[in-house]
Amino acid sequence: VVKDDGLAAGKGVVVADDGTAALAHAAACDRVVIEEYLDGPEVSLFGITDGTTVYPMQPAQDFKRIFDGDEGPNTGGMGAYTPLPWAPADLVEEVLRDVLQPTVDELARRGTPFTGLLYAGLAITANGPEVIEFNCRFGDPETQAVLALLRSPLARLLHATATGTLAAEPPLEWAPGAAVTVVVAAEGYPGTPRLGDVIGGADADGVLHAGTRVRDDGAVLSAGGRVLSVVGTGPDLAAARADA
Ligand code: GLY
Repeated sequence: VVKDDGLAAGKGVVVADDGTAALAHAAACDRVVIEEYLDGPEVSLFGITDGTTVYPMQPAQDFKRIFDGDEGPNTGGMGAYTPLPWAPADLVEEVLRDVLQPTVDELARRGTPFTGLLYAGLAITANGPEVIEFNCRFGDPETQAVLALLRSPLARLLHATATGTLAAEPPLEWAPGAAVTVVVAAEGYPGTPRLGDVIGGADADGVLHAGTRVRDDGAVLSAGGRVLSVVGTGPDLAAARADA
């Protein structure tokens, strides 16, 4: 994976199948970063931390292409689900032990402690989970699915992370079953979205607003690329998807 070392509006990365393409991209960059290609499904795993204790959340997977069947251009995220029935049973335990906790410990050791939501973007490779990236925020749209199943009170957890008392909180509690979120995007997205379309049903249960606004007469209008996130739950993924 050959990357331009700088901001390149998403065009700086080439995932090359052969050396010629990799060299050609590298030659076009001022400074270049070369990374191992990580093969395998991607997983988002969020850890909430007060800087010492880390509580991992349920893993989720999101889909970034605009069309069904994982086709078309990339977007900010078109849908997500949790849990991951195909993932190794010890995935969360392993990522907590090998990724989240050591990262939080090392940041504290360096005198730059981190408190909040640590988002590990992982690839599940033949050699086990590998980190692609970290974000210090909740992931979108995975969060819509993950929080739909979280039974522990989120505000209480956030308060405990902010006050350094997470270890005193009971382990996170999850509702059984599955959650699926499907993003409703504006016509034209991820290109220039058409704005101002009237949306029906936007006040239904499970509908979360993102790019919407309310007109003077009360009508809800599209006002952004990703307009709504619709969350469904059920005893399994098929049921949750049908619900969404
Ligand atoms: N779902 C990807 C992200 O939030 O960065």
